[in-house]
Amino acid sequence: MVKNFSIAIDGPSASGKSTVAKLIAKKLNFTYIDTGAMYRAFTLGVIEAGLDPKSEEESNSLIGKISISFDEENHITLNGKDVSQRVRENDVANNVSYIASYKGIRLHLVDLQRKIAKNKSVVMDGRDIGTYVLEDADLKIYQVATAEERAKRRYKENLEKGIETSFEACLDNINKRDYIDSHRSFCPLHPANDSVEINTTDMTIEEVVDAIIEIAKQRGLTNGK
Ligand code: DC
Repeated sequence: MVKNFSIAIDGPSASGKSTVAKLIAKKLNFTYIDTGAMYRAFTLGVIEAGLDPKSEEESNSLIGKISISFDEENHITLNGKDVSQRVRENDVANNVSYIASYKGIRLHLVDLQRKIAKNKSVVMDGRDIGTYVLEDADLKIYQVATAEERAKRRYKENLEKGIETSFEACLDNINKRDYIDSHRSFCPLHPANDSVEINTTDMTIEEVVDAIIEIAKQRGLTNGK
């Protein structure tokens, strides 16, 4: 009988979660779900509507009025439009932590995340996947790296994507998001008790992927659908 498995990958901003999660999903033939992209898309919706992301009331007013989903290529869409590149830009990155701190928006997006993950084997990455969204995940990874290393990676990634930034701006954004993400009252960023911590500061992506696949194998998670 084919069983559904779930792997949760949490950790601070730019710790390499999405790159690793995507590769693991590919290797195991699971569906990858990027929950950060959903918070980013909501943030873009708020910006495009001319509302203030720092206002919880204004931001909450869009719940149920904008639609966020993934298309067949697994690209994030806002009201049916592919916004996967747009949500990486600075205006979204600088405001997303406010949006992610609003309980109403979190509950709405968590509901969506659980629906997307239903009846499939998934690798889901975010901040609260192992602690809240998929509390019963078969494997929980908590991926960390120093702020400097994460800023270096984000800076390089932005350059490759043609997004204008400086290393200092990346580091500043990461420090700010770390603080807001781990100090919010509802579902703050913290490792689940039963998570496996991986410090990726001095590891290559391949090494991280291999380490996680090894644990997945040990737990018998490699033949899901
Ligand atoms: O992983 P990312 O950088 O794309 O995430 C964007 C923001 O969304 C980040 O500041 C934290 C927030 N987030 C969250 O609070 N919970 C999640 N499950 C995923 C992301």
